[in-house]
Amino acid sequence: MVASARTEPRGSMAMELTIGDPALTARLERGMDASEERLRALAAEAQDPCVAEVAGHLFGPGGKRLRPLLALVGAEFGERAPSGAAPSATGPSATGPANAERSAADPSPAVEAAALAELVHVASLYHDDVMDQARTRRGVPSVNARWGNTTAVLAGNWLLSKAAQLAAELGPATIRLQSKVTNRLIMGQIRELVGPSDDDDPLSHYFTVVAGKSAALIAMALQLGAVRTGAPEHVVQTLAVYGEHLGIAFQISDDILDITSTSEVSGKEQGKDLAIGVASLPVLLALADERPEAGELRTLLTAATAGPEGAGLPRAVALLHRCGALAEARTVMHARLLRARTAANGLPDGPATRVLHALCDFVARRDH
Ligand code: IPE
Ligand code: MG
Ligand code: MG
Repeated sequence: MVASARTEPRGSMAMELTIGDPALTARLERGMDASEERLRALAAEAQDPCVAEVAGHLFGPGGKRLRPLLALVGAEFGERAPSGAAPSATGPSATGPANAERSAADPSPAVEAAALAELVHVASLYHDDVMDQARTRRGVPSVNARWGNTTAVLAGNWLLSKAAQLAAELGPATIRLQSKVTNRLIMGQIRELVGPSDDDDPLSHYFTVVAGKSAALIAMALQLGAVRTGAPEHVVQTLAVYGEHLGIAFQISDDILDITSTSEVSGKEQGKDLAIGVASLPVLLALADERPEAGELRTLLTAATAGPEGAGLPRAVALLHRCGALAEARTVMHARLLRARTAANGLPDGPATRVLHALCDFVARRDH
């Protein structure tokens, strides 16, 4: 995932980060490998071989590994950055005593941050796939498809408990971030499930949902890496702002890809949001005003025939294209990316900040 130009070293993500810094690229690559190893070791800590197998099901090749990468990039901004030189040596370190957490004893705070972010993410995928009745994830059968819903929920809980355990070992600042993000993520999922009330504007509701279910963890991964390597507070806060915008843009691209991308490319079933009635941004935009296509689209979606096996999917996709909703969703996504870039411009200039811009490029390219 972390790469010099035009390579896909993890074999799973069409991502090219051109940052012109081979040393940073190599360091991030090593960090990704080490965090994957750490995750496998954490799964193996389960006393039961079945739990270890289910918990480790999505570790390994197949995912984009965006969150661990962000944690590693965030760690580049600290005084104890893996490079040994933070991009900014200026400004007081205002993250408080938390900065001292295991600082001397822990040889790899960046890797621990990366593993922790991915643990929370994978747990959320287990639960999300139960909610969506998804059969495929990261190009392999989902946990619920292979072992059933009960096992998927319990294994997701096990991963969250493991994340809490790891956070507790790393100290109070990490626990604060990990517990807050878990809460926001679950609240985002619950809000999506419940849907907007009659008084809610569906688009405002959507942005609240995606801020919780997606952006929170993306922001937190960056913050965690930065906090754990002693970055100044203003840098941590700016990374959080960047991450919130990037996260929302990333979720919008995910919504678009649900409609436009085949399962061979995404590793998930095409049209799942349409099939199960998840209010994704293109659909909300299509239904928001009285477009000629809205009536037919509404009928298709409520008839639940728009799913991958339903005859309605190609028609629903065509309508979403024709009414301009997909293009509008892309515009909203690009506006968010601009806000992320503006936040990144407030960070110290250097290769780590260039990675953040390259990630905006990646999300911009990802929407088709
Ligand atoms: C959910 O977003 C993010 C979490 C897993 C919490 P989606 O519901 O859009 O994720 P996919 O499309 O199923 O991966
Ligand atoms: Mg989902
Ligand atoms: Mg999705």
